[in-house]
Amino acid sequence: MARAAEDAGADAVSLINTITGMAIDIGTRRPRLANITGGLSGPAVKPVALRMVWEVYRAVKVPIIGMGGIMNGRDSIEFILSGATAVAVGTAHFINPVASVHVIEEMENFMREKGVTHIKNLIGGLITK
Ligand SMILES: Cc1cc2nc3c(=O)[nH]c(=O)nc-3n(C[C@H](O)[C@H](O)[C@H](O)COP(=O)(O)O)c2cc1C
Repeated sequence: MARAAEDAGADAVSLINTITGMAIDIGTRRPRLANITGGLSGPAVKPVALRMVWEVYRAVKVPIIGMGGIMNGRDSIEFILSGATAVAVGTAHFINPVASVHVIEEMENFMREKGVTHIKNLIGGLITK
């Protein structure tokens, strides 16, 4: 899909969206969601999101906006290392409306601690061998 988007002229790709899930009230045997199925987001989807960013990073040249379960700066750095050029934060704001401000501060602190002078030096920096 990312290759198709790139071939069609996309300037960037954004991933991942929610993953479709379900929840059931066993007492009533009814779905907990009005639509029966619904979008799963937040920390539960982060491993899947990281894997997809990593795969897409190796498949296309356009920049990737990575998201899915980012709750803090460490999560965000994981996405950058897996190949994201930028990140987005959604669900975390339901817990803390200024979560993204903390994410940025924590990323800056991490970079200072590690002596990383520019975020570009971390993009796709995962060491696999
Ligand atoms: C309440 C809510 C509404 C969303 N609406 C959309 C939408 O309209 N279009 C879309 O592409 N993604 C939508 N998403 C998915 C988010 O953009 C994001 O990809 C996903 O939630 C994973 O990131 P997160 O774990 O930081 O929330 C929505 C997510 C939530 C929680």
